[in-house]
Amino acid sequence: MGGSDLERVVVAGGTGLVGRSLVRALVERGVQVMVLTRNPERSSFPTGATAHGWDHLPALLGGADAVINLAGEGIADRRWSAKRKTALRTSRTDATARLVGAMRACSDRPSALVNASAIGFYVPRGSDPVDEGSGPGLGFLPEVCQAWEAEAMQARALGVRVALVRIGVVLAREGGALPKMVQPVRWCMGCKLGSGHQGLSWIHIDDLVAMLMEAAQNPAWLGVFNGTAPQPLSNEAFTRLLAERLHRPLLPVPGLLTTAATKLLLGEMAETLLLQGAFVVPERSQALGFQFRYPTAASALQDLLP
Ligand SMILES: NC(=O)c1ccc[n+]([C@@H]2O[C@H](COP(=O)([O-])OP(=O)(O)OC[C@H]3O[C@@H](n4cnc5c(N)ncnc54)[C@H](OP(=O)(O)O)[C@@H]3O)[C@@H](O)[C@H]2O)c1
Repeated sequence: MGGSDLERVVVAGGTGLVGRSLVRALVERGVQVMVLTRNPERSSFPTGATAHGWDHLPALLGGADAVINLAGEGIADRRWSAKRKTALRTSRTDATARLVGAMRACSDRPSALVNASAIGFYVPRGSDPVDEGSGPGLGFLPEVCQAWEAEAMQARALGVRVALVRIGVVLAREGGALPKMVQPVRWCMGCKLGSGHQGLSWIHIDDLVAMLMEAAQNPAWLGVFNGTAPQPLSNEAFTRLLAERLHRPLLPVPGLLTTAATKLLLGEMAETLLLQGAFVVPERSQALGFQFRYPTAASALQDLLP
């Protein structure tokens, strides 16, 4: 493993899917990691990382090189009731506001805030690529992303460099979307969702972790970055690739039927996360020379589903 310019990093939400991999990678590079969690007593981490509650934030953040904020209730964990939507939004805006408020109270402020956001920010533009300059969509997720990003941007006034990483569908072995997509295909029940033409902008978890670390340590990483691989696919192309990888056939289910079924099962969440999707490209990270280890979905699936 290579070294890092980072010495002390705070990871908020470091117990989640992305956070666990990130903490492991930082520790492997010799970085001292402090994980912010609501349950510090129940968390266990590799040597080099310690768990902390959300109290006494200014003392914890003071002297850190960077804060990487991943905290927020799971977007796809359950149906979006009005109460759930409030929790999804406030868990992100409140956590981010608390971090920025603590930075304000710090004498020795962190140099950088790397804040997670999501590609749910964007309005899909058919099969046209969507880069960081594209505007926001309308509706719940774009609104959450904008409010979340606006809280993070407050840190700029404190002299803290802010990098916002709009994360795509994270592909990982241990959780997130991939195991859910694999299951029906393994049972020979896989099929495209809806028209299948909607974009599926994904990223291998190792590339996302590398991107978050680069954003934390490289002063050129300022502003918005798409946390997606350079080659997004349509839902249909991705599902086909998955079926080939698992040596399974796909069912020729009509799009109207899968649209109706996913809406019935998952409500508004289905519409937003599964039946719509932009082809999001990571133009800004590539312009800064970031190298993807898994630029194609085929290479990512080969690694994750050996
Ligand atoms: N995974 C993806 O495909 C994907 C795609 C786009 C965007 N993102 C965004 O990237 C971030 C990290 O993703 P992930 O998949 O690692 O998420 P995750 O597994 O759900 O982990 C999020 C972490 O946030 C913390 N958290 C939850 N509710 C909270 C609350 N009310 N207040 C404070 N902290 C809270 C939890 O830590 P404790 O329970 O330990 O407190 C949890 O470990 C999330 O914000 C997510 O929206 C992820």
